[in-house]
Amino acid sequence: MITSKEFKLFQEYIEKNCGIVINEDKTYLVESRLIRLLIEFEVENFEALYNKLNSNSNSKIADKIIEEITTNETLWFRDGYPWKILEDVLLPNYIAKLRKKEVNKIRIWSAASSTGQEAYSTVIIINEFLDKNNIKDVTLSDFEIIATDISGQVLEIAKKGRYDPISMKRGIDEYFKLKYFSKKGNTWEIADFIKNRVDFRKMNLQSNFILLGKFDIVLCRYVMIYFSNKFKNDLLQKIYNILVDDGVLFIGSSELLYNNKHKFKENEHKNGIYYTK
Ligand SMILES: C[S@@+](CC[C@H](N)C(=O)[O-])C[C@H]1O[C@@H](n2cnc3c(N)ncnc32)[C@H](O)[C@@H]1O
Repeated sequence: MITSKEFKLFQEYIEKNCGIVINEDKTYLVESRLIRLLIEFEVENFEALYNKLNSNSNSKIADKIIEEITTNETLWFRDGYPWKILEDVLLPNYIAKLRKKEVNKIRIWSAASSTGQEAYSTVIIINEFLDKNNIKDVTLSDFEIIATDISGQVLEIAKKGRYDPISMKRGIDEYFKLKYFSKKGNTWEIADFIKNRVDFRKMNLQSNFILLGKFDIVLCRYVMIYFSNKFKNDLLQKIYNILVDDGVLFIGSSELLYNNKHKFKENEHKNGIYYTK
């Protein structure tokens, strides 16, 4: 059993290093997710694991703790509406801006990308839009898509773009599956021309965003739910600062911002919410 002193050590460590808040009623979660690290790093108990982590700022243990604690649940076209808004509202405007040479590129950031479904869903919808409207003067290369996550493990899967049959049953229809994936043994691999459009990078949302440049769209979905209100407010402000003037933020459909201090304006399209400056 993890003691309450040990739980507190990890609770503080986790909030400090990835922003995730774990309350006392989730003690079992810390215990069940970290117990295997006692075996892997050959220590007797959680306090010894904590000491080993700090003794030589053991980055391998640090990485493993983050991997175990983060929830990487995701699916294709999650919630549906962000891609509908992209298609109906945003893409026509972006195509016009690109044609008028008002911008060089449209930049999109999937800010807690997990295994890549959110970023790849975005590229697929852009490609569908160009195909359907027979647009030839604007191409996928006019869009720069960056996807980041704190977990190296999920990014490895994202970069490979290879998915197991269960992931391929979650949110993607047969048409897209056959058009954009090829079967590789028991898995499905996304087509190179989609894969190559996404630049996956390891990044903690606690870090500074300045070097990322400005974005037209930020998808920061189903991650703020794990953070404290203070961190959420800071994050919303940092996202606000890196959006272009008509930039858009998407959050998860069940995430609420009414408890937060932010400057965003709420917009609605066909029951889907998106935020602008
Ligand atoms: C539940 S998934 C959401 C994935 C995707 N955005 C979606 O909506 O389907 C949350 C992701 O946030 C990542 N994450 C958690 N804390 C983070 C942090 N401080 N910085 C960057 N990513 C973080 C996790 O590793 C995980 O992959």
